[in-house]
Amino acid sequence: MARRILVTAALPYANGSIHIGHLVEYVQTDIWVRFQKLRGNDCIYCCADDTHGTPIMLRARREGVKPEELIAGMHEEHVRDFAGFDVAFDSYYSTHSEENKKLAETIYLRLKEGGHIDTRDIEQAYCESCAMFLPDRFIRGTCPKCKAPDQYGDHCEICNATYSPIELIKPKCAQCQDTPIQKKSQHLFFKLGDFTDQLKEWIGGGHVHEQVQNKLQEWFDDGLKDWDISRDAPYFGFEIPGEKDKYFYVWLDAPIGYMASTQNYCNLNNKNFDDYWHNPETEIYHFIGKDITYFHALFWPAMLMGSGFNTPKQLAIHGFLTVNGEKMSKSRGTFINASTYLNHLDPQFLRYYYACKLGPGTEDIDLNTEDFVLRVNSDLVGKVANLVSRSASMLNKNLEGQLSVLGDEGAALIKKLQDESESVAEDFEERRYNAAVRKICGLADEVNRYFDQRKPWVEIKEDKAAAQETLTVALNASRILAIYLKPVLPAYTEKVERILNIDSLVWSDAQAILENHTIGSFERLIERVDPEKVNAMIEESKEEQQEHQRAESEPSELDKEPIAEQITFDDFMKVDLRVAEVVKAELVEGADKLLRLELSLGSETRTVLAGLRLAYEPEQLVGKQMVMCANLAPRKMKFGTSEGMILAAGPGKNEVFALRVDEGAQPGQRVH
Ligand code: 2FM
Ligand code: ZN
Repeated sequence: MARRILVTAALPYANGSIHIGHLVEYVQTDIWVRFQKLRGNDCIYCCADDTHGTPIMLRARREGVKPEELIAGMHEEHVRDFAGFDVAFDSYYSTHSEENKKLAETIYLRLKEGGHIDTRDIEQAYCESCAMFLPDRFIRGTCPKCKAPDQYGDHCEICNATYSPIELIKPKCAQCQDTPIQKKSQHLFFKLGDFTDQLKEWIGGGHVHEQVQNKLQEWFDDGLKDWDISRDAPYFGFEIPGEKDKYFYVWLDAPIGYMASTQNYCNLNNKNFDDYWHNPETEIYHFIGKDITYFHALFWPAMLMGSGFNTPKQLAIHGFLTVNGEKMSKSRGTFINASTYLNHLDPQFLRYYYACKLGPGTEDIDLNTEDFVLRVNSDLVGKVANLVSRSASMLNKNLEGQLSVLGDEGAALIKKLQDESESVAEDFEERRYNAAVRKICGLADEVNRYFDQRKPWVEIKEDKAAAQETLTVALNASRILAIYLKPVLPAYTEKVERILNIDSLVWSDAQAILENHTIGSFERLIERVDPEKVNAMIEESKEEQQEHQRAESEPSELDKEPIAEQITFDDFMKVDLRVAEVVKAELVEGADKLLRLELSLGSETRTVLAGLRLAYEPEQLVGKQMVMCANLAPRKMKFGTSEGMILAAGPGKNEVFALRVDEGAQPGQRVH
């Protein structure tokens, strides 16, 4: 019987772009959901943007927009990026929605009715100039342990100590640099301890991987503490019913967003919400990273228990992504945004590589860029896709695209592939994608051996029927491999379906055989990874980071940059500064900080991408004479090549001033 399964991935914050670290989870989840759908289960994938909290409120303020506008823009970006990686949600919603507000209120009121909410006064850091309580992250000061300056209010990045903001030496508001005071305020607490026994039983019931159970035991040993679920105004979130100027803490309504997203799915598809959240037969799976285990293994099930909803069947917890053995790094260019990746590489490569690496545990996974190129090129392209390409083109060219029958040897080989169906399925079910891919590649090796022994390129000249049989076997095998890979590589498999001229494949189709059938025309399946493109992606990430730093850095931060290595007078004289007249200025689609300028140097024109968009409207610049460095080597940027650099300075954003020369100067004239 088909299972009803609701799957969620953690809701990404609406104040940042999706990067390849996030994608480990969304791809892992997508593979699992696609697998369930191919098996014929009734499975839906729900997610949303996590939109509330202080950082989003403050960022919107800084950008001079309403938080609603900020999150709307982010939503669009996230939806686009996920689609770019074939991550197919059944509902991608927002925690800032009516449905979420109602559900959060319902859950809270039920917890309150059940006597699980407490009220008490707490003292917190408060900035009088900003007129707000400061979350730990928004207080900076000297670490009380190692005395490192400029550390966060909750932990030191130098000595790793954790402490409370009160202990910080010379604390300052990170927004305005004022010294915060301690101020009392009444907060609401969820009494997690009320659920200790129920939670222990739930955790013992196999809902989390054993690796995690041990960690959870430590938390029980320490005793479950009450959880502060309220925040004072100003705050971007939902007001708490029955309270004044109090809002739900973002982490209270974030997981409820899983429900709101389900509700959205139900509204759009005429389905019943209670079938998902009130029917104990329904299996709820939450895919999350290990850093948010506490929220999902304790707070969240307790909230559900206390308000009478289904608890999750399983938490699928993964580790973090490292790149080339290290944490993703902005300066090394390995902090790669989803959109930057897509500018250079096929999303299927990354889906495939993650599948090669992902197992059911919480170990970190490493994206080694050399290994990435090797695995995609030698296994996916070399073993799996090439088989289809070679066989289909040969069949189309010489045998009118006509498949014949398998023959005994071929039938035995195909049976072997078919017999692996349940074992591969179990690997996907248990999230052992690495094992599944290993098996699939092992099967591809066997088919390639058969192909190379039979040598259809020789057979075709001597015995057409034999060649036709070989190609029939190879394409049947390819079809089965494509089914097994379909959860990982939906786009690849769809191409195979078109090439073979068959309907959309599901898992059970692996047991069928395709004989006496005419295939479709050939199309290119998948290209090899070009290592140059991997390098270009890393370079672009570095550039983005530098651009971001330039735009975001407050002057005080810039001041901290050490003076660069000394250069000689002769070095300096190498910089050829020229008068440049702006002939044309235009916006650059997709780049919010750049203008494309056409500059006349008299004898030639140059195209320069200048970071002046926030400071000037394009029409203000046309006809103006500026100073440019004319002998800078052209630089390939994301939006084109820039052939020089305009001299401009200022504190940043809209306060950047291009250096102007007296009117009447000659374009191309040297400036000293
Ligand atoms: O850690 C995070 O990125 C959170 N935005 C995850 C929220 S998951 C769920 F609880 F909403
Ligand atoms: Zn302040």
